[in-house]
Amino acid sequence: MPDTRKVAVIVGSLRKGSFNRMAAKALTEVAPEHLRFETIEIGGLQFYNQDSEDNPPEPWIMFRDKIRASDAILFVSPEYNRSMPATIKNAIDVGSRPPSKNAWKGKPAAIVTVSLGPIGGFGSNHALRQCCVAVDLACMPQPEAYIGHAPDLFSDDGALKKDDTREFFRKFMAAFSKWIEAARNR
Ligand code: FNR
Repeated sequence: MPDTRKVAVIVGSLRKGSFNRMAAKALTEVAPEHLRFETIEIGGLQFYNQDSEDNPPEPWIMFRDKIRASDAILFVSPEYNRSMPATIKNAIDVGSRPPSKNAWKGKPAAIVTVSLGPIGGFGSNHALRQCCVAVDLACMPQPEAYIGHAPDLFSDDGALKKDDTREFFRKFMAAFSKWIEAARNR
């Protein structure tokens, strides 16, 4: 079995009944065993303000430390107005500064977007990919994961009820595992 890898899971939705949070749980349940997941909450991060770098807020410091301690990042995010939610963008900005200590630098990442509509958060997914380039996150190109019609996929208790989606998630996480190893050696 490959070495254990610590994967930080970042969910872009803050709401209690979030389909993205349900998807994140389902993804981790079918992932290869050597991947260990920790969900890193981003709702308490103050909006990025460069003036605060002289005395950074405690939540920024903790967030940056947790990202630095992770081997890889899994983003699971809704689409808001054809882009990523402000939560995710703010988290990326907070983690990226100061540039000499960019917490994301060189880490492998994967993106899953989940939405109510048929497009599956395509706009959000690609807006996030654009940011990954800037902060030197090595984002897995394939497979892509645009998960639409979210209410049809989960039961009331949040469990994934579609076998074909579970199988896709399993293949996605197996590919991510391989990507993590390849990207570590780039
Ligand atoms: C949305 N939603 C949405 N859906 C979509 O497919 N494309 C979009 O551009 C948007 N835009 C959008 C903006 C805002 C401000 C909200 C609140 C919602 C709907 C979105 O897919 C839906 O609320 C999901 O349930 C959000 O994901 P969670 O919270 O269930 O994880």
